[in-house]
Amino acid sequence: MAQASVTRRYRFCAAHRLHTDQLSPAENVAAFGKCNNPNGHGHNYVVLVTVKSTVPTATSKGVDLDQLDRTVGQQVITRFDHQDLNQDPEFADLTTTGENLVLLIWDLLVKHLPDGQLEKVGLIETRDNYFEYAGEARHAPVLREGRHG
Ligand code: NI
Repeated sequence: MAQASVTRRYRFCAAHRLHTDQLSPAENVAAFGKCNNPNGHGHNYVVLVTVKSTVPTATSKGVDLDQLDRTVGQQVITRFDHQDLNQDPEFADLTTTGENLVLLIWDLLVKHLPDGQLEKVGLIETRDNYFEYAGEARHAPVLREGRHG
C-alpha cells in the first residue's frame, strides 16, 4: 500500500519571555536581547503536524483526521492557547524557546497518537522563525538557543 503523509495546520496565541535562572540578568540580556524583556511578549504560533497516512483506496480511508484534530486540540491547543508559556510546568527549568516548544509538542502528541504515526512537528513562531522536530534519538533540552526579533 502506498505511503503518504498528511500535514494539518493548527494555531494558538501565547505569551512568553526568554529567560533562564541559570544566567545572571546581564547574561540573560546578552543571550536573549529584547526577548528577555521582563514584561514578556506574544506570538501567534502555527503548529504543523505531519502524520503518516496511506493513500485512500476502496478499502482504506487513510488517517483519521478527526481523531488527530481532537488529540492536538486536547494536548496542545487547549494547554497553550492564551497562556503564558513560562508558567507551564514543563518550562519550570527550561527557556520557552521555539526549539524547546516544538520538542514539547512532539512529546505531548507522540504518546497520544497511534504508534509510528507521528512523522514531524513544525512550529512557526514569527515571520522568519520556523522550528521542526522529527523525533530522532531522545533529545536534550535546549537552554540558550531561540533568540528572535
Ligand atoms: Ni518570542
